[in-house]
Amino acid sequence: MAEEEIRSLPRIGEPAPDFEAPTSRGPVKLSDYNGKWLMLFSHPADFTPVCTTEISAFARRYGEFQARGVELLGLSVDSVHSHIAWTRDMAEMGAPVPFPIIADLDMSVARRYGMIHPNESATATVRAVFFIDPKGIVRAILYYPMSLGRSVDELLRVIDGLQTADRLGVSTPADWRPGSEVIVPAPKSAAEVETPEEARAKGYTYHTWYLRTKPQG
Ligand code: BEZ
Repeated sequence: MAEEEIRSLPRIGEPAPDFEAPTSRGPVKLSDYNGKWLMLFSHPADFTPVCTTEISAFARRYGEFQARGVELLGLSVDSVHSHIAWTRDMAEMGAPVPFPIIADLDMSVARRYGMIHPNESATATVRAVFFIDPKGIVRAILYYPMSLGRSVDELLRVIDGLQTADRLGVSTPADWRPGSEVIVPAPKSAAEVETPEEARAKGYTYHTWYLRTKPQG
């Protein structure tokens, strides 16, 4: 990959690269998702076993993404006709696919998003996930290899963590789950450091001066 292309790959906190692309449900462009959360994800290929389990799982649990205001948009380097035939198979297996899948035959979107990892495959996308917020900013990125199917629970946990951080101005600890304690911002100066008693009086759990948690509320 050219140095210039690598430097322009999307990073957390940057605007998601624009695109316009054909999908299994008609053309889409990034701006169609302005004002909404978007989970843009790639899979290596249609009609392959791990991908079938993933897309079926995303389809079966689509309502949980919708409940969080998140749209789903898939991508692979297969054609629109391939996507249509494959999603019909999944519908027959009990998982109608309610979201569009980009047919990125020329890999233009995949390259722009760094979804091609040549040592894994030069001709297919890895299992990438981009979480894009309503302002079009990339908020989290996940990459999985060909052999490892993604966890819907973890994808939903990422969304819950991002949305909770935005809503409450907090961060979330390791293995956080919705409903468990969140992390209060660390003091920014010595003057802001609290004693354990002061922290507890505010309803915080005091672990140490720079780690205090509180109920999500
Ligand atoms: C799969 O989804 O099963 C798969 C796709 C590409 C390479 C290896 C496995």
